[in-house]
Amino acid sequence: MSYVEELFDIRNRVFVLTGGGGVLAGAIGEGLAKAGAKLVLLDIRLSNAQERAEKILAMGGKALALESNVLDVKVLEETRDIILQHYGRIDGLINLAGGNMPGATISPQQTVFDLHITDFEKVLALNLNGTVYPSLVFGKVMADNRSGVIINISSMAAFRAITRVVGYSAAKAAVSNFTRWMAMEMAMKFGDGIRVNAIAPGFFIGDQNRALLINEDGTYTERGKKVIAQTPMGRFGEPDELVGAVIYLCSNASKFVTGVVLPVDGGFEVFSGV
Ligand SMILES: NC(=O)c1ccc[n+]([C@@H]2O[C@H](COP(=O)([O-])OP(=O)(O)OC[C@H]3O[C@@H](n4cnc5c(N)ncnc54)[C@H](O)[C@@H]3O)[C@@H](O)[C@H]2O)c1
Repeated sequence: MSYVEELFDIRNRVFVLTGGGGVLAGAIGEGLAKAGAKLVLLDIRLSNAQERAEKILAMGGKALALESNVLDVKVLEETRDIILQHYGRIDGLINLAGGNMPGATISPQQTVFDLHITDFEKVLALNLNGTVYPSLVFGKVMADNRSGVIINISSMAAFRAITRVVGYSAAKAAVSNFTRWMAMEMAMKFGDGIRVNAIAPGFFIGDQNRALLINEDGTYTERGKKVIAQTPMGRFGEPDELVGAVIYLCSNASKFVTGVVLPVDGGFEVFSGV
């Protein structure tokens, strides 16, 4: 094995991906499988996760699809037991379940006072609790073994005030904060073998934001144009462009890195717009 291969080696490590049937999980899962990792794809919609797992199996990779709910600790504990029976270990958790809801956003004609409180709470719960609960259930296995990595998914909305997405922004800011807190807690109480980091994707076209950014004819919406104007690289991200950052954070290449929120955003976060 070359020096670089050894540094980034994640072969045979077992990674659990929540939201494993989603768009970003699809690209990240394929990347990790190509790098030789064994995957568990958890999703509340089992058929989505199964589809992703079948694709990985067809590529010669290893993947198990399981139905689970990141908002139910008991269900997560049952899922953990199934994974341990199947693979015997858990080396990492990537918290990809998350997203937005129309009622937790403010349309251009509305003001913040039109916010749907119930939807706001649901979005907070899915993105924040849905990251915290799996981190506790699967993180405990890592703490017992004194080894493992957790990667959370934050967002540009945690760094910058982005119009309309009030609930999602608050939740992702909390995910960034929880990442730092959990990194400190794990390292101080369970040693340097456990690391907790986050990735903050810029704008990638997914099922949740496609209609906001791209018209049916493929041209950009007004909002899409504004995003591109704010992105020094002048384009949206491709989901497979997250893979390198994930493998870096999963592997020994980042073995002294914990508590960071790494933007993968074509420069969106640093750009003043001028
Ligand atoms: N696409 C983007 O541009 C972008 C940008 C920044 C951050 N993100 C974040 O990245 C993550 C993945 O985004 P995506 O675009 O792939 O979304 P996606 O909607 O394609 O995938 C999310 C998956 O989570 C699953 N899920 C929902 N509730 C669940 C629950 N309670 N338990 C288990 N699974 C559940 C869904 O069924 C879905 O398969 C999300 O946290 C999202 O907020 C996306």
